[in-house]
Order: sequence, then structure tokens, then C-alpha cells
Amino acid sequence: MITVSAPAKVNLHLEVLGLRADGFHELAMVMQSIDLADRLVLQNTADAQLRLSCDDDSLSVQEDNLVLRAARLLRDRSGFSELGAAIHLEKRIPIGAGLAGGSSDGAAALVGLNALWGLGYSVADLEMMAAALGSDMPFCVAGGCQLCFGRGEVLEPVASASKALSVLLVKDPSVSVSTPWAYKRCRELHGQTYLVGERAFEQRREALRNAAWLKPLRSDCPPPLQNDLQAVVEPETEAVRQALRLLNTLSDSLAVAMSGSGPSCFALFPDLPSCEKARDRISVELDGAGLKAWCCPLRSDGVRIES
Ligand code: C5P
Repeated sequence: MITVSAPAKVNLHLEVLGLRADGFHELAMVMQSIDLADRLVLQNTADAQLRLSCDDDSLSVQEDNLVLRAARLLRDRSGFSELGAAIHLEKRIPIGAGLAGGSSDGAAALVGLNALWGLGYSVADLEMMAAALGSDMPFCVAGGCQLCFGRGEVLEPVASASKALSVLLVKDPSVSVSTPWAYKRCRELHGQTYLVGERAFEQRREALRNAAWLKPLRSDCPPPLQNDLQAVVEPETEAVRQALRLLNTLSDSLAVAMSGSGPSCFALFPDLPSCEKARDRISVELDGAGLKAWCCPLRSDGVRIES
């Protein structure tokens, strides 16, 4: 039996550069793992079946779940069709939140089953398989802080952030945003001004690689937290406007933004105690607005085998 921790991420930077020939968006992102994690418990079975159970009834445990898709892909690639596993998912990361919870679970299935079945694939091999299943999934394998280019799957690790930095994460549990919708809307609103051509894309990537706030991430030079999808999602989503309004009242936060395609939003703090104090100051307003909150330190790794 193997237990794997699958952490959420936030986007410290999400820049939509343009359109790709495959119809996806060309992105320049900085993704950061945070200490809010799902847990997968994996066990070998002798019946060549791949089974998933979950403590959250609202989540599908059928073939569309990224955990089962990842398990199937890994087994197909290995050629050992007799391999079986029973996987139990303990869901802690909010669903449909822009926190890559589903992607991290899929990445955890790849890492966990690779170990459970003794397949010996490298991290690079697993990242390549992850890229076939979702744009955010390769990042989730090694996690930490990484530049993510292409549609999200081209990874460049950056220096580890100050461990103390923490995020106050806020989300309305009853609201989720569809990622395909957010990108489609982005194209409708901003497609005319997208950059065109590899030269223009590479200039933006280079600017991000050289950003002073990334060398390394620290509280005395905080990131500006750009998210191009925020301008697309915020006008259409009251829960995002409310979350941002409340987080922006916290004068001691370093920066505030939406994560991914939303609707979760976060404020960055120099350390966990200041993050927790800030949450306590707005707890009544958070409750009143129906928003759930989490205080999470940054995490310097991604999927981790715990036992
Ligand atoms: O790869 P993933 O399944 O996470 O992407 C979900 C959807 O989001 C895609 O089908 C696409 O519509 C949109 N997307 C995009 N450009 C990206 C990533 C995602 O347009 N780089």
C-alpha cells in the first residue's frame, strides 16, 4: 500500500500570449505548489481492474476522472495489462477552483502507481505522460515553483521560494468556473490583440525568466501577480468580485489575484501567522459572503510519496 500527497497550486503569473496551431493558448506562467493537498491511497489488486473510490460524493469516480485516465495510460504504456489497483481519493482541494486539484490527483496516480507497480519511469517520463492528459498536469508531478510555457507543459524550474511565504485562499464552495469557457471568452474579448509568432512569444518568456521578483520569490520583492484570465472571469462571476473585494481590504498582504481560471482567489503574505491573523480579521465578512478560506504555506515540491 502506498499513500501519496497531491498538492494544489496557485498561479503567481498567468499570461495569455496567443493562439497555437493546435487551438490551445500559448501561455507564460509561474505556478507554485501550496500546502493544501488531496491524499491518494493505492493498493495492488490481483484482478487486473483499476478502481477508484472517493470520500466526496460530488466527484465522478468513473473513467472520466483523471486518476483513472492516468492509471490506464501508465498501464498501457508499461505493456503489463494484468496490473490492477484500488485507489482511494481523500479530497481536500476544492473542485473546479483553478487550483489544479484534478490534475494533481492524476499526477499523483502516475507517481504512486509507478512506485506501487515497480515500473521505474523517471520524472521526465511521467511528465511526458501527464502532458497527454492535461495542460497543468506535468507541473504537478514535481511541483514547487516553475515557469510553465507552451500550453503549460514546457517546464523550467526556478529557485525555491522563501518557505515562510503563505497564501490566504478564498473560494465560494458553490461556484466553479469551466476552464474551456474562460479561454474561449478570453479569445472573444482579446483575440484581436494576441501576440503572433514564436519571436514575440519568446520575448515575453525571456522577460518572465528575468523578472526580479522570481530571483528568488521573497517578501521584500513580491510578485505583481498578473493573471490575464482574471479580467475575463471577474466581470462574469460575482463570487470572484466578492473574494477580491475582501482580500483587497487586507492592507498587510503583499499582492492579491485570482488563481488559474478561477474562481478561487488568494492574497500572499510574508508568513503563516500574518496570513492567519488576516483571515481572522475578515472571518465574519467571509462567512457572510459564503466564502470558505484556507491559510496555506507555499510548498517546495509536488506529488510526494508519504508512505
Ligand atoms: O489541458 P486541459 O484539459 O486542462 O485544458 C482544458 C481546456 O482549456 C482546453 O480544452 C482548452 O479549451 C483550454 N486551454 C487553452 N489553452 C491552454 C490550456 C487550456 O485554450 N494552454
